[in-house]
Amino acid sequence: MDLINVYDYETAASAKLQKVVYDYYASGAHDEITLRDNHAAYDRIKLKYRVLVDVSRRTLSTNVLGEQVSMPVLVAPTAFQRMAHPDGEVATVRAAGGAGTIMVLSTLSNSSIEEVVSAASGPVWFQLYVYKDREATAGLVQRAEAAGCKALVVTVDAPLWGRRERDVRNKFQLPEELSVKNLMPAGKEQFPKEVADSGLAAYMADVIDQSLTWKVIEWLRSTTHLPVLVKGVIRADDAVKAVDHGASGIIVSNHGGRQLDTSPATIEVLPEIVSAVANKTEVLIDGGIRRGTDVVKAIALGAKAVLVGRPILWGLAVAGEQGVSRVLEILRSEFDLAMGLCGCSSLNQIQSDLIA
Ligand code: FNR
Ligand code: LAC
Repeated sequence: MDLINVYDYETAASAKLQKVVYDYYASGAHDEITLRDNHAAYDRIKLKYRVLVDVSRRTLSTNVLGEQVSMPVLVAPTAFQRMAHPDGEVATVRAAGGAGTIMVLSTLSNSSIEEVVSAASGPVWFQLYVYKDREATAGLVQRAEAAGCKALVVTVDAPLWGRRERDVRNKFQLPEELSVKNLMPAGKEQFPKEVADSGLAAYMADVIDQSLTWKVIEWLRSTTHLPVLVKGVIRADDAVKAVDHGASGIIVSNHGGRQLDTSPATIEVLPEIVSAVANKTEVLIDGGIRRGTDVVKAIALGAKAVLVGRPILWGLAVAGEQGVSRVLEILRSEFDLAMGLCGCSSLNQIQSDLIA
């Protein structure tokens, strides 16, 4: 079967991946209400296109935190990519560079920061989990900066671990040959083995600092010259706090519905966050973006760019670097078509008056 959209890639990936791996990638917390709503909310938004506008020439490019990208679609940080394909994060970063966009690399990658950045042809941002072990955390930041990462993305929506019931039932563990490679120097590269259910949940409960406050943003900024983005904000008042504490960008995110179930779909809270801070910082969004029309809607509602998580994993699982490239190309061409059919030939023409 020809794979012509993101959903085809998910179907093909689910047929290829071991159940425990597909379940880990696909799952959301508890009843997966937010997981489903992240995309369903886009379906509820209708586009009022303009007609008789010359759309023969369209430019999709933009810049995000000063980095030129070919389209406003970035690769969200997703962990343990070598479970999807032996090349893992190295395949993803090559495809992201080939597509002229940015990859955000997870702290919990199966490939080291250095391996990934040395394979990159485009910008890499490093997504950071703040460990209780502050020395190990500072070590990760320094390695990311030294390796050539261009920004730090601190994830703030996981002080406790969302309960992904598929992982619980599967007693999710990393395959023997894989590890949390970046944490090897700190001796934190393996999940606890003797656990009642999800090995990842036990690992995160063990290592992640649950006491973080907004002070951590200032601490991070004292450890690096990199711009710091805050990922996992869904409230306007928190967005204002992020800016007040020196964030250079915000990623409106609910972790793909994997943390607090029944949190709002990200596209539904984007407008209030944009009106609160868009004139002071760059606002990005992720969660449930599967079609080019979703990208148009996010841009129209004020996002500078979007990030996609699971679609990248489906491409990786099906065909490694080539699969990720193909998924990014599908999203680009769908966004190009949607933009043109809306009567827009550049991103600054995609405004909120397109939203019915
Ligand atoms: C994630 N996400 C995530 N976020 C983060 O900050 N660090 C991480 O290591 C991971 N790991 C991860 C693994 C998997 C399998 C998924 C599905 C998600 C969340 C991710 O960055 C992003 O917020 C969501 O995936 C976006 O939603 P979509 O595009 O997957 O619907
Ligand atoms: C997840 C992590 C790793 O959502 O962020 O699985």
